[in-house]
Amino acid sequence: MQPIVPASSVQETYDRMAAKLSRLIPEAELRVKAEIAYEINRLKKEKNAVILGHNYMEPALYHSIPDFVGDSLGLSRIAANTQADRIVFCGVRFMAETAKILNPSRMVLLPTRVGGCSLASSITAEDVRRLKAKYPGVPVVTYINTYADVKAETDVCCTSANAADIVRKLDSDVVICLPDEFLAKNIAKETGKRVIYPSEAAGSDFHEAMIVWNGRCEVHEQFRPEDVWNARAQFPDTVVLAHPECPPEVVDAADFSGSTTAMVHFVANSQAKRFLLLTECSMSDNIAAENPDKEFLGMCSVRCPHMNEITLEDTLASLREDREQIELEEGLRLRAKRSLDRMLELS
Ligand code: 13P
Ligand code: SF4
Repeated sequence: MQPIVPASSVQETYDRMAAKLSRLIPEAELRVKAEIAYEINRLKKEKNAVILGHNYMEPALYHSIPDFVGDSLGLSRIAANTQADRIVFCGVRFMAETAKILNPSRMVLLPTRVGGCSLASSITAEDVRRLKAKYPGVPVVTYINTYADVKAETDVCCTSANAADIVRKLDSDVVICLPDEFLAKNIAKETGKRVIYPSEAAGSDFHEAMIVWNGRCEVHEQFRPEDVWNARAQFPDTVVLAHPECPPEVVDAADFSGSTTAMVHFVANSQAKRFLLLTECSMSDNIAAENPDKEFLGMCSVRCPHMNEITLEDTLASLREDREQIELEEGLRLRAKRSLDRMLELS
C-alpha cells in the first residue's frame, strides 16, 4: 500500500475532493468538509499521527484524510509496522483494538465512543472456552471481527482476505470457525468441508468438518439472491461482487467474492462497464468515485451504522484531544497477539 500524500492548502484539499466527489456531494458541503479535512491533515503532521481508513468510510472522509485505506488485513499490517506516535483508526472498535494489540507502544485513537460490530458482539470468550471443552484439540480459527478476549482464546485469526487459505494451511480435518455463520459456510464450500453447529450431538462424524457459530453481519445478511437476479434481468451485462459475509446463496449467485480491497482491485482491473456491489453502501460510492468510466447500480440501501459513527468532525476532535484511546490489559493483549501473529505468518 502506498501512502496518500496530503494536500498543502484548503483549496487543494477541496479541489482533490471535488474531482472525485462533485457528482455525489453538493459544493457547499464539500467546502465545509474540505476545511475540516485540511485541519485534520495539518494536525496529523504536527502530532506525528497516521490515519488509517477502512474502505467503508463515508466518501468525503475516505477521499481526504487517510494516509492508507484498505481492508482489515491490509490496515492491520500497516498498524503493526507504523513508526507514527499515534494511529487514528477510522473504522470500528475491533479494528482499532487490533492495531493496539499489534503495536502497543503507539497511542491508538478511535474517533467514536462505541464503534461496535454485530459480529464482534455475537460471541464471548466464555462461548469459545465452552466450544474448546466440547471439541478438545480442534483448532479455533476466529474472524478478525471479534474483541481481544475472544482472540485470546483463539489459535489463529483470519480476515475475509485470507480465511480459506488459513483453514487450508492448518491442515486439520476439523476446525472451529467463529463467529460468522455465513463466512464459515462460504469457506466450508471453498475448502470442501461440511458445516456442523455446536448444538449437534457430540460423537457425530467430524471428518472434514467445520464447526460454526451463529453470528451474522447485520449489513450483509440483508442481501438476497433475488437482488442479483433482478439486477441481471434489467441489465444482463452487470458484474456482481459479493462480500463473503453475505449468505452463501448470494455469494453463489455473484460473479466474484472477496474482501473489500479485493473488490476494489477487481473493479479497477475489470473491462466490464456495469457493476453491482453487495456490500456496505459507502464502499460502492468510494469505488464509483475512483472509476468514473464505470456504472454502479444504485442498489445500495445498507449502511453499516457502526462505521457510520466515524465523521470528519469527530476525527478532528479525537486528534485534538487524544480521545478515545484504546487501552488493553497486557496479559490479555499478549494472548490475543499470538492469534494475530499466527495469521500474519500464515498469510
Ligand atoms: P474487510 O476485511 O473485507 O474489509 O471486511 C471488514 C468488514 O467489517 C466487512 O463488513
Ligand atoms: Fe461489522 Fe458488518 Fe459493520 Fe462490518 S459491516 S463492521 S461486519 S456490522
